[in-house]
Amino acid sequence: MDLYKGRFTHKTADLAHEFNSSISVDYKLYKYDICGSKVHAKMLAKSKIITEEECIDIVSGLDGILKDIESGKLKFSSDAEDIHMFIEGELTKRIGEAGKKLHTARSRNDQVALDVKLYTIDKTKNAIGLLLELEEVLINLAKENLNTIMPGYTHLQIAQPVTYAHNIMAYAQMVLRDIKRFSDALSRMDTCPLGAGALATTTYDIDRDYTAKELGFNSPTLNSMDSVSDRDHVIEAISTMAMSAMHFSRLAEELIIYSSQEFGFLEIADEYSSGSSIMPQKKNPDMAELIRAKAARINANLTGVLTMLKATPLSYNKDLQEDKYYLFDSFENFEITVKILSGMMSTLKVNKERMHDMAKKGYINATDAADYLVKKGLAFRDAYYITGAIVKYGIENNLSLSEIDLDVYKEFSEVFDEDYYNYIDLEYVLNERDVFGGPSAKRVAEQIELTEKELDKFKSFKLD
Ligand code: ARG
Repeated sequence: MDLYKGRFTHKTADLAHEFNSSISVDYKLYKYDICGSKVHAKMLAKSKIITEEECIDIVSGLDGILKDIESGKLKFSSDAEDIHMFIEGELTKRIGEAGKKLHTARSRNDQVALDVKLYTIDKTKNAIGLLLELEEVLINLAKENLNTIMPGYTHLQIAQPVTYAHNIMAYAQMVLRDIKRFSDALSRMDTCPLGAGALATTTYDIDRDYTAKELGFNSPTLNSMDSVSDRDHVIEAISTMAMSAMHFSRLAEELIIYSSQEFGFLEIADEYSSGSSIMPQKKNPDMAELIRAKAARINANLTGVLTMLKATPLSYNKDLQEDKYYLFDSFENFEITVKILSGMMSTLKVNKERMHDMAKKGYINATDAADYLVKKGLAFRDAYYITGAIVKYGIENNLSLSEIDLDVYKEFSEVFDEDYYNYIDLEYVLNERDVFGGPSAKRVAEQIELTEKELDKFKSFKLD
């Protein structure tokens, strides 16, 4: 379709057409575009701007186009500037005159704003569904490891004992917040830009409430200039994905470290690993490494879309056409990342013995030794210095805290007694941390229950 033949003497240069065209990317909006156009046509008929017959022709023509795209019969043509012009052109080819009336009281600016919003809403809902599946996997893994003691780290140095359940549930909390952020972002996507026209609505007596409701929105947008230039929903969706992907990346980093020979805590299933082309012994955590890389990519998309928008004046500018590169790339990479992560976590092998053995090392119970002295009446800071000196003695003599004799302890402080050894026992140390949000098996079970309750609020987003 030579769209500009009325105004222009010369055709767009081939390279300029290629530069200007977005169909190679925005063809992915075809479903949303057809859905929006059908509702627009029905509104035009209802408002007596086109006839009922024309509306019927348009709607059935659009249905036919949708069917032919989905069956592969109709191929997208790069002659069209974008998906909107492609569908309109195809419609007119199929139904004639009525097709030329579809664009009455509409601009591509409100059309594309609508399509992008519908896409973002759809994908955001799907993202919540995928995250709910991941949560289920994480929670199951936690339930299997309520008593799997492992070292907890700060600065990647052994700190205090935790369980693998507690460690995994930390990620479940991050993902729960991601779900809430997506859902919160959705609540701000609830206004329909259709009817805003190019920027200043239209002189036709259109019914924006009707189109908004028919398309599943709460209401029409309130300012037509904002409507065609607003891409906040794109930014919010990508920013939520960027944060969520950062969480996945941290988890992936732990999978990589914990599955190294030095740690030996975890084994990633063959199904989610790769080998080496030269080193026959290798099993590499490629998927986890790619998950780290995807976080970088989505973060780059966020920076891209924010930078793209930051100096565009009102209202629509062609810069906005590029929003789709960032948006589609983010959702596509986010979706596959969540699916891979769910697969990896559900097939993960946990080496409980190795975790337990390592939890016995690094004077992990030193805080508890100091607390023992406090309970015997010492001030914490004094207890802390004494225990530090005992740890030093242990390191010099290659003894753990439970291997040092009571006589030796008594030289450090008279208050040490037989009951001390039980007090620094690993299981005891862990399960004594019976504080809300703590690592004891009881408290983690409680954490799981409360998390499941929170997740239940989002059950309407579950994928079938
Ligand atoms: N393809 C454009 C986009 O994706 C929509 C077209 C609006 N173009 C225009 N010249 N007003 O943003």
